[in-house]
Amino acid sequence: MSTVSPGPRTTPRRIRHSEGGGALGFFETQADVRAFTRARLFEPGARTPVAVRFSRTLGFLGGPDSWRDVRGFAVKFFTPDGEYDLVGNNSPVFFLRDDAKFASLVRAQDLVSDENLYHHERLWDFYTRTPQTAHQVTWLLADRGIPASWRHLDGFGVHTFAWRNEQGERFWVRYHLRTDQGHRWLSEREAAGIPQAEVDYYRDDLRAAIEGGDEPAWTVFVQIMAEGDARACAFDPFDATKVWPKSGCPLRRIGRLVLDRLPDDEQADIEGVGFSPTNLVPGIEPSPDPLLRARSVGYPFFSEHRVGRRPTEPVTDWPVAPRTWPTDDFGQAGAFVRDVLDDAARARLAATIAAHLRPVSDAGLIVRALGYWHAVDPALSRSVAAELTSQRHSAAS
Ligand code: HEM
Repeated sequence: MSTVSPGPRTTPRRIRHSEGGGALGFFETQADVRAFTRARLFEPGARTPVAVRFSRTLGFLGGPDSWRDVRGFAVKFFTPDGEYDLVGNNSPVFFLRDDAKFASLVRAQDLVSDENLYHHERLWDFYTRTPQTAHQVTWLLADRGIPASWRHLDGFGVHTFAWRNEQGERFWVRYHLRTDQGHRWLSEREAAGIPQAEVDYYRDDLRAAIEGGDEPAWTVFVQIMAEGDARACAFDPFDATKVWPKSGCPLRRIGRLVLDRLPDDEQADIEGVGFSPTNLVPGIEPSPDPLLRARSVGYPFFSEHRVGRRPTEPVTDWPVAPRTWPTDDFGQAGAFVRDVLDDAARARLAATIAAHLRPVSDAGLIVRALGYWHAVDPALSRSVAAELTSQRHSAAS
C-alpha cells in the first residue's frame, strides 16, 4: 500500500528538521470515537500501518542528537482513504502563533556557521522581543529539552485540528502521544558528555530496542471540544502557543501507536517520505489556527521540491475563528513553571536559562531577558539572576 517514492540513495536534505530517523509500525484504535469523526482509521479496532520520523529542528545533517532542541515527531498513517499526516513535535506548543515572524525565528535560531553554535545574543534578542515565544522557550529550557531517546519523549499535534462525524458535526481536537517507556531526559552535563562522534545516538537506541524486541509504544489521547464551545473559551483554542488545560478539556484515550519494524531502506522508507499537514482524510479537517494555515501553504512545496512528490492539494475553504481573544503570552508559561514543575525541576530550569544567558555580553539584553522571565514567573527570574551571578563568579575564579 505504501506510496512512498523510492527515493534516490541520498535523499535531498530537509531545510528544517534535517537530522532524523524513524521506524515503521501501526496505530490501533481502542476506543469508539465515531460520535466525533467518520475517519476510518479511528473506527473501533482499526489497525493502520504507520511510518514515524523523529528529528531535531535545528542544526545540520550529521549533527549530534544530544543538543537541546525541539524534536519533531511526524507520523504518516497509511489509511484506506489515503495518507494522513500528523506532523508534530515533542512539546505541546510552538514558538509562534502565526508565520509573521517565522523567518526571523529561523534566522535567530540559525547556528553560527563556523562554530556550529547558537548565536546567543541574536537568539535572546529575538525571544525577548517576541513574547509569544515564552511558553515554548520555557518547555525547551526545562528538562524535556534534551530527551534521553526518541522512545522517552511524547508527541503532540500542537495545532488544533477538526474532526467531523457522519452527521456533519464538527469538533475541535488536540492530539497527545504519550510515551509508554516513561519520560527520560539528559541533563546539560550528561548531554555534553556524549562523544561528538556518537551522532546517531538516538537512531542506534531505537534500532537496538526494536531489534531486541522491546517495541516502543505511545498511548494516544485526544482532547475534544464541541465546535460551539470555542467561543466561550477564556483563551484562544486555535493558538499554537497555548495548551488546552486538561481541567477544562480532559484527555480521552483513543488508541496505541507501536513501532515494531525497522525500515528496510532508511532512505526510501523514512528520509524519502514527505510529511505535510495538508495530507488529510475524510473526517479530519484543519481548524482556524493561523500557523497551521501557513504550514499548509508551505509543506506541499517543500515535499515536491525535495522528494518530487506533491501531497494532496492544499485546503481551500479555510475555517474562520468564531471570535478574537486578548493576547496573553506569559500566563500559560507561568502556570507550567508553578503548577507542572516541582522545586528541583524549577531549579534546573533556572540553571539552564542562566547557562544559556551566560554567553550574552550585552547588559541591556540581560535586563530584557530577566524581564521576560519575570513576566513568566517573578521567582524564576530571581533564581535566574542569582544563578547567572554565581555561574559567572565560578567561571571567573
Ligand atoms: C510557518 C511555520 C513553519 C514552517 C514554515 C515550517 C517549515 C518546515 C520545513 C521547510 C520543513 C522541511 C520539510 C521537508 O523538507 O519535507 C519542516 C519540517 C518539519 N516541521 Fe516545520 N515549519 C513550520 C512550523 C512547524 C510547526 C508548528 C511544527 C510542529 C507542530 C513543525 C514540525 C515539523 C516537523 C516535525 C518536520 C519534519 C517532518 C519530517 O520528518 O519530514 N513545523 N518544517
